[in-house]
Amino acid sequence: MEQQIQELRERANDAIKNSASTLKELDEVRVKFLGKKGELTALLRGMNQLTADERPKVGKLVNEARAEIEQLIAEKNSELKAKELETKLASEKIDVTLPGRKVHAGHLHPLTLTLNRVKEIFISMGYTVEEGPEVETDYYNFEALNLPKDHPARDMQDSFYITEDILLRTQTSPVQARTMQSHEPNTPIRMIAPGRVYRRDDYDASHSPMFTQVEGLVIDKGISFADLKGTLEDFSKKIFGEKTKIRLRPSFFPFTEPSTEIDVSCVMCHGEGCKVCQGSGWLEILGAGMVHPNVLKMSGYNPEEVSGFAFGMGIERIAMLTYGLDDMRLLYDNDVRFLNQF
Ligand code: DAH
Repeated sequence: MEQQIQELRERANDAIKNSASTLKELDEVRVKFLGKKGELTALLRGMNQLTADERPKVGKLVNEARAEIEQLIAEKNSELKAKELETKLASEKIDVTLPGRKVHAGHLHPLTLTLNRVKEIFISMGYTVEEGPEVETDYYNFEALNLPKDHPARDMQDSFYITEDILLRTQTSPVQARTMQSHEPNTPIRMIAPGRVYRRDDYDASHSPMFTQVEGLVIDKGISFADLKGTLEDFSKKIFGEKTKIRLRPSFFPFTEPSTEIDVSCVMCHGEGCKVCQGSGWLEILGAGMVHPNVLKMSGYNPEEVSGFAFGMGIERIAMLTYGLDDMRLLYDNDVRFLNQF
């Protein structure tokens, strides 16, 4: 019996030291020797075959063996745990001297920058910023602007119809009627309305079937053509530079009378004549006019009491002029080599 105990101690010792290389293997060794069905327990069970005076002696040896094995397992356990932690730390090591990854911050699109600048200028003159729907009714897009169903001027703005009476708006002008109708009749208005508009146009260097406009409307007692001219001259100088001159050419729009086209002195050659202005020295930037009495009447305003002026400009064109772009499509292609320059 003593010999058996001695032999078991040696085997346990050897197993712990040499064959348990992970915590799991160590636990298997523990079960094999000390577990309920383990070898040491089996030895204890065999003790009832011993004589009464042998028992205490052997019992002591078994206890000593158990204590020794438990001690060895505990030692090995902490050794393995330390090793495991070490490998974990080694595998998770980071090199803090590696250069960091660069974060690319985005920025606003040149069209948005231009629109923001236009808004800023009009807000500084006391204008409010209004909005209208891009899917618009025939009534607001045309009729309330003095363009009845058979009006020939509709052809210039052929559009995308959803039904007979609903279309993608061809201009931001419908926001004029919507704004008047949301006000008490004859109360003053000073607003701009930026937004997208749609026309059945080809996509070439100077046309897009979708583009951006800013509409303007001012109504009050005694508003005259001089107010129109002064306001738009001031705007032109603010957006294109102090030296900018403006020129008014008679024009026609169904919703204004009289109507005018406004040109600015060429931003590239300052009037000398160049490729951008096609030698003329002038660039067309917007349409404007005194609000037609019919337009005021249809939205509940009285042309005998108040008058107003309106204007409409294309933001792409202003962006092209201020940034010197020769192709409008650059603004829509999302080529980062282009966009990164702003
Ligand atoms: N709506 C016109 C267009 O899209 C632009 C325009 C011209 C707007 C004259 C106006 C205006 O308010 O008075 O071509």
